[in-house]
Amino acid sequence: MGWSCLGREPGKACSSQAPVLHFAGLQKSKDSCQTERILNTEGYLAMMDISGKTAIVTGAASGIGKGIATALAELGANVVMADIQKAAVEQAAKALSDTNKTVMPVQIDVTQEQSVVDALAEAERNFGKLHIACNNAGVPMHGTGLIDVPPGDWEFVTGVNIWGIIYGIRHFVPAILRHGEEGHIVNTASVAGFQNRRGTNQGPYSMSKYAALSLSEGLEHELEGTNVGVSVLCPGPIDTNIARGARNRPDHMGGPQVRSNDEAVLAEKLATTGIDPKTVGERVVDAIRTKTFYSFVGAVPADVIRARHRRIEDALNSRWATHY
Ligand code: NAI
Repeated sequence: MGWSCLGREPGKACSSQAPVLHFAGLQKSKDSCQTERILNTEGYLAMMDISGKTAIVTGAASGIGKGIATALAELGANVVMADIQKAAVEQAAKALSDTNKTVMPVQIDVTQEQSVVDALAEAERNFGKLHIACNNAGVPMHGTGLIDVPPGDWEFVTGVNIWGIIYGIRHFVPAILRHGEEGHIVNTASVAGFQNRRGTNQGPYSMSKYAALSLSEGLEHELEGTNVGVSVLCPGPIDTNIARGARNRPDHMGGPQVRSNDEAVLAEKLATTGIDPKTVGERVVDAIRTKTFYSFVGAVPADVIRARHRRIEDALNSRWATHY
């Protein structure tokens, strides 16, 4: 574990530390931006060194996954680029290895447990111990009201966005814990994991991202006291191919699909307001190194999220509720 200073002045810790929570010789604190940080007992930031570590990134053929894989590889990690699109992930990996990055492509379908097991085995055969897992593969489900979404579409969105993370937790996490070295899990949720944006009919997608958030919070609790950190990545609009995500629907779920509703709601917005996925990769690197749990990036509907939280807080004052 490398140590690095948290404060703005080199050699000094952040001046505005909140009360700290101690575990395994480390402390949890907040910096002046209220970002949660893991500090050692002297107030220095416990920063993971990414160079030489092995990482697996799902959904790495495109968009955010490609951005994460690139950022990790640029810092000297060995990166397993895993994706259901075989040709695309091979091409993306070749582009990175042509610039002297240590990467390998592997085909994976995160909706199928055996495929996750096989991809992990291939990763360990090639690069040895796994340290970082980014459960990032995801698909949209926008533009159709909840009462009209067919069961097959529910299975698709839950299969990729929820079961993909569950299988990552079931197999990547034990692989990281097994060797005892430091590690990190990043689950990709979304700002949609904190609110159901009106006017987009994004109910099924949002539901899957609330699940990603909850799985991450549960995992963080379970890994407290270990040297494996957890981050939940919460991007706002990012300029990726997600609007056309149904084209990657696995064969066992009905095969590729063109869903114009997703594209109508998402494509133009992402192309005009979405930020470059490379920035998301840099954000993920920062989250891993600083062990930041809630990792927002891009434009965040903060007022909508705060209003939702205020509504919940008001409801907690109901005369029907007792507190524990
Ligand atoms: P993208 O469509 O550009 O990339 C997603 C990748 O996941 C594709 O390469 C696709 O082949 C792969 N994938 C899909 N199903 C898979 C499966 N069953 N197994 C393995 N790989 C599979 O989309 P993007 O935007 O890069 O999405 C990445 C993640 O970011 C998703 O979880 C998405 O929900 C999330 N996200 C995206 C935002 C955006 O504005 N683009 C905002 C917030 C979150």
